[in-house]
Amino acid sequence: MLKDVERILITSEEIGARVRELGQQITNDYAGQEILMIGVLRGAVIFMADLARSIKRPMDIDFMAITSYGLSTNSSGVVRIIKDLDEVVEGRHILIIEDIIDSGLTLNYLVDNIKSRKPASVRICTLLSKPDRRKVNVTVDYNGFIIPDHFVVGYGLDYAGKYRNLPFIGVLKPEIYQKG
Ligand code: IMP
Ligand code: MG
Repeated sequence: MLKDVERILITSEEIGARVRELGQQITNDYAGQEILMIGVLRGAVIFMADLARSIKRPMDIDFMAITSYGLSTNSSGVVRIIKDLDEVVEGRHILIIEDIIDSGLTLNYLVDNIKSRKPASVRICTLLSKPDRRKVNVTVDYNGFIIPDHFVVGYGLDYAGKYRNLPFIGVLKPEIYQKG
């Protein structure tokens, strides 16, 4: 697994420190409110688990699964719900948790979908963002790290289902996805 990583972009320690900062900021912003965190499966799971423990507010968590890249490294723009929420959204303060915003197509769809269910508020928190790749404009409220246009893996992010358990964010060697 490690031999497929070209270099480490963000260390486990850097991630930990930034997650605690985001948690503190979210804790302050949601004073007196209860949060419903919605994690986008599967990439956001590890980030969400750490972030949730840094937020000192009452919360519930739920998950949505939508189609993403499959085996390719490019968004198709076609988004479909594979698993919907169990929780009711109406009247609640929604915090959407994403692993990475690339083209923005996935999130754009998701935000519209959540807004149609009449939440009290919707905010977006992403661990990573690649602004150079944006195809649609999305307003991000909490952003862990802005990264250049490289395909990255680890801390929840995968290529073809692998590498999610790496504790850092690493740049995948291009030959790994070019041969696929
Ligand atoms: P978007 O719709 O193009 O913004 O795609 C967002 C989704 O694509 C993310 O939730 C990831 O699942 C996936 N993705 C985009 N860039 C990367 C990357 O560099 N590594 C791993 N997954 C990525
Ligand atoms: Mg994803």
